[in-house]
Amino acid sequence: MTQREVTPTVRTGASEAMLREYYERRAPEYERIYQRPERQTDLACLRRAIAHRFAELNVLDVACGTGYWTACFAGHARSVVGVDANPAVLDIARGKALARTRFTLGDALLLSERLGRFDAAFVGFWWSHVPKRDLERFVESLHQLLRPGARVVLLDNLFVPGSSTPIVENDDQGDAWQERVLSDGSRHRVLKNFPQYEDLMALVGPRSSSTHWWRLDYYWWFDYTLP
Ligand SMILES: C[S@@+](CC[C@H](N)C(=O)[O-])C[C@H]1O[C@@H](n2cnc3c(N)ncnc32)[C@H](O)[C@@H]1O
Repeated sequence: MTQREVTPTVRTGASEAMLREYYERRAPEYERIYQRPERQTDLACLRRAIAHRFAELNVLDVACGTGYWTACFAGHARSVVGVDANPAVLDIARGKALARTRFTLGDALLLSERLGRFDAAFVGFWWSHVPKRDLERFVESLHQLLRPGARVVLLDNLFVPGSSTPIVENDDQGDAWQERVLSDGSRHRVLKNFPQYEDLMALVGPRSSSTHWWRLDYYWWFDYTLP
């Protein structure tokens, strides 16, 4: 991992706005990340695993983006609500016309009671973008929307040298930053953490009745059940 220590220039609030702006500009090209040849074996395994994971459940898809993963499980779920802060990605998700699925604008760091109550949640590639100091608050607000016994799947990236975008900064809050370039040449500083199994267990373990960790070549999957 390439790293250099620099004085952080970005604070919470500004960093959240930067993340939203980055994904707004990236919306039309977002799903190219799922076309990378070296990741196809992993992705096929994950799509198979997620397809039936939420069968007959009411699912909250947190930071759902363009609905790439929503489309994999919506056909088997009882209902799905996808929430994202970005109208541009939601437009693409809605264009998929998924059955029993509603996409709505909202802040994943401040999940509203109005979203409803759910018996499952999918959190795809969002955990890594949450500042470490906000993770506990995020987990608690998510769990407030979940029924007892709810099933949660967290899915995110492993850091793979040569494939992942290098880390250019580790700030004094313990968060890692990448510089990403979009096809229009624009450059974006993006908070992106790569948690270890122990980090997830420390936060989620005491709040769950069972956990399961799965490490692939490019991705990690952590699912758990609420008591
Ligand atoms: C890496 S993408 C993941 C999208 C989708 N879950 C997937 O796995 O393909 C991160 C998503 O977080 C959304 N996002 C950024 N800030 C957000 C916030 N505060 N609340 C909700 N969504 C946010 C972005 O618009 C983007 O769609």
